[in-house]
Order: sequence, then C-alpha cells, then structure tokens
Amino acid sequence: MTPPRSPALAAIGMTLDRSTGVPVSRQIYRAIREAILAGQLSPGVRLPSSRALAAELGVSRTTTLYAYERLRDEGYLEGRVGAGTTVALLRVPRPVSTARDASGPQPRLSAQGAGLAGIRWWTRGTAEAAVGTPPRAFSVGQPALDAFPTDLWTRLLARRLRRSAHSLLNYQSPAGYRPLREAIAAYVGMARGVRCGPDQVLVVSGAQAALSLVARLLLDHGDEAWVEDPGYYGARGAIVSAGATPVPVPVDHEGLDVDAGRRRAPNARLGYVTPSHQFPLGVVMSLTRRLAVLEHARDTGMYVVEDDYDSEYRYVGDPLPSLQGLDRAGRVIYVGSFSKVLFPALRIGFVIVPDQLVDAFLTGQRFAAVHAPVLEQATLADFIAEGHFARHVRRMRTLYAQRAATLTEAIRRELGGLLTVTSPDAGLHLAGWLPPGTDDTAAAIRASRHGVEVQPVSAHALEPYGRPGLLLGYAATTEAEIVAGVRRLAAALSGGRPASPTPRRVRSGAPARPRTR
Ligand SMILES: Cc1ncc(COP(=O)(O)O)c(C=O)c1O
Repeated sequence: MTPPRSPALAAIGMTLDRSTGVPVSRQIYRAIREAILAGQLSPGVRLPSSRALAAELGVSRTTTLYAYERLRDEGYLEGRVGAGTTVALLRVPRPVSTARDASGPQPRLSAQGAGLAGIRWWTRGTAEAAVGTPPRAFSVGQPALDAFPTDLWTRLLARRLRRSAHSLLNYQSPAGYRPLREAIAAYVGMARGVRCGPDQVLVVSGAQAALSLVARLLLDHGDEAWVEDPGYYGARGAIVSAGATPVPVPVDHEGLDVDAGRRRAPNARLGYVTPSHQFPLGVVMSLTRRLAVLEHARDTGMYVVEDDYDSEYRYVGDPLPSLQGLDRAGRVIYVGSFSKVLFPALRIGFVIVPDQLVDAFLTGQRFAAVHAPVLEQATLADFIAEGHFARHVRRMRTLYAQRAATLTEAIRRELGGLLTVTSPDAGLHLAGWLPPGTDDTAAAIRASRHGVEVQPVSAHALEPYGRPGLLLGYAATTEAEIVAGVRRLAAALSGGRPASPTPRRVRSGAPARPRTR
C-alpha cells in the first residue's frame, strides 16, 4: 500500500498492513495518536480531509472517517467534517525513555523511600538468580526444602479447596484464619512459654510483614529504634521505611548490650532483639540481659520486638522460654515465622501483640495487606492440627543436628587455622571466625568464585565489626555437599585456584559489596 503523500502524514511514516488482522481504521487511528503523543504532529497542524486521506491510502472513506471521529472524540483532533481537521491544542508531556538507564535522572523518592532503597543486603541479586536451582553450600537461612513433605501438603491443600472452596474465596478478617490463630497461640504457649490468647495473634505474610507493621504503627518520623549490631537487615528495613532511625547497639556473648542501648538512645521507642538465637552471631540472650531490657522498656515505654524466627531448632539442652513470657508490663511484641520451619515461599508468619495494641494492629493490617492468603492459612491449620507439623519439626531437628555436626567436623579437619568454629547449639547456620585482620568480604567473594556461598559477618554490621567472620548455612546442604563445600572453601581461603566449572555462578561474578545502614 502506498504511504500517504500529504506532508503531515508522510512525515510520520504511516504505513498500513492488511496482513495483521488489525482493522485499517484502527491502524490509522493508532498511527496518528502515537504521532501526536510523540510530538511528531504538533498542535494546529492541518491533516488531509477524510476523503483525501481515503484516496491517498486506497481505503474507503468510511474507514478514514471512523479513525478521525474517534480521534476527535478522544480529544486528539479538532474541527468538523468538511471544515478541516487539525491537531488539538494539547500539552503533551515530552516523551521520556522508559528503558532502565543508570545514567538517567534518578526517580524522586520520599525520604523514607530513599533510605529504604539505600539498604543493601548481601544476597541481593542472587536470590532471583537462584530460583529453580538447588541450594548450594552454604546458603544462609534456608531450610531443607527437599525434606519438606510436598505430597502431603498438596493433598491437604487440595482437600481444603474441595471442602471449603467458597467460604475461603471471600475477604476474611485481617487478623487471619481463626483456627490457625488458635493453633499458633496453643503452640507458642506450650513450646515457647508465650502468654497469649488467640485474639492477640495476627497472621501476616512472614516475619518481614510483621516487622513492617510494628514499625509503621509504633514509630514516628525521626524516632530512634535499637537494633542489634551486627543484626538482621529486615528489621533495619522496616524501621527505615517508617522514617525512623535504627541505632546500632553492640551484641556480645550475652546478646544485645542493654547498657550500651541506654547510653546511645535512651528515648528509643522500639528495640529489636533475637533473644533465642541472635542473627547472625547465634548467641542466646542471657537472663540478666532479658530482665534488663524488660526493665528499660517498662520504665521508658519502649516496645521490644522479639523475633523468634528459628527457635524450633535447638539441638542441645532446652531453649530459654521467650522474652514475651517474662514480660509483665505488656511491652513485648512477639514475632514468629513459618519460613524456616516449613518453607520461606509460604509467606506466613505471625505477630502476637499486647491486648491494648490488638485493634491498632488489626486496622494496620487491613491497610497493609488486607490479610494473608487464606487457603494456605487453612492448610497450615490442618497441617498443625493433624500432627504433621510436630512430626516435621522433630525430623528436621535430627537432620539439621547431623548436618551441623558434619559441618563442624569438616571445618576442623580441613580448615584448621583458617576458620574457627564452635558446634552450633541451635539454628540453621553457624558463624566461623577468620584470623584477625582478614577482610571477610574479600574472603566471601573468593569463596563465591570457588562455588561456595558464605556471607561475611561484616555485611550484617552497621558499625565496623572488629572480628572478621563468615556465616555458613548447613540446613539445606546434604552431608556429601557439606564435605565437598568445605574443601572448596579451604581452597578459597588458602588462596588456591577455583576448581572449574563452579556449580553455579553468582550473577555478575560475585555479590556486590553491600552498603548497609
Ligand atoms: C532474623 C530473621 N528474622 C526473620 C526471618 C524470616 O523472615 P520471613 O518470615 O519474612 O521469611 C529471617 C530469615 O532469614 C531472619 O534471619
């Protein structure tokens, strides 16, 4: 088909294609509309009459009339039939490239948004790259997904959908599925000494959602909040997203140093702690410190967030009961997650709040996520009620204890002098210590080139952390992979060349040095 000869339309290079199945009138409409929006046809430019255009394009006049009428109806063209048609006087924004261009103007974020976007975490970029690939030695924070009873879970999910499809498809309470809240209250009461009723339990999309909700409801812009240092970036992210400032409080062999917290931020409105298994160091908070933080909270009105993310996994002795169970002043908010005990993609966790906060949290959740997905909540309630949860925890505890022992033995055998470890009592990872003066970030990058995934302790610290160390996850790694992984780590730490090929490349070679705040 010949392109139009009229200067205005020739300039925009309108070509029609009958083979696409798109009606010709729509093709004309789109070509003119795009040219106006792209600034190729300026306001006031006169277009050929519908008759002339039809003749030029070799189409019927009805076709061009239809295109013009639609453009007029939508406000792109002005004028009446027979009186000439011109491009309307529109202020069309200058077109910008939508391509991601690092050199282009930065998006304008809010102060909180910019703070949040500035938080770096060690595994950024690798999590996406890892989708669909088996976990590699020694990814941190991952449970043994291949040991999860997926067939059983699928059956329970299908049964739930069959039995109660319609009632589960509608909007539900922001607090979550009632039978699951009851099951959680009973479980944490028995296993963790948490003192609560089901009304205080809100089911949310993982511990992260709980932390964000807590921060948004309890922190004002400019408030200070204690965070463990080194500590969990998820807690820092939640605090920053509320416009508040995370204040690093050092962690020693007894957990968070409460006196240091008092000195650094006496008026902090929130304190974040992981008392049963400090992330990332693995320390258990001593009873003295627990009582001290509760006393400070009672005296100043600070709320304490107790993140009990992996307390199911204790291999030696009995765990200390929760901090929440010791609190008599209603200052502790208890956060739990099914990410480690079942699987992270489930995105179910919970927050247990003092009575006086229940209503605020319900409303907060209504405007944050409405509620967590209900089919999964109902399936989880069945999984717990029918005894599968307790059985799974028992099996995983035995498996992880074996893996922890294999890892410690292999490190002592292969890495003597390069990495010092103590046998972990709890959790899914351990912290090993490098000789003083070692750059642990450089060590982690070298390990990554040898196909081993470890995290530098310093990446989790806000202030310079004097002790270089590496975090190694063992729960998701088979014993054979643990032994092979430790050999590769030994080669990396002693300066050997990588064995090729490495099992999985971290995108862009190695994790970027994270910027933390
Ligand atoms: C300290 C800590 N809290 C909580 C979580 C679990 O978060 P979520 O339930 O959002 O998956 C993790 C996981 O890595 C963690 O390390």
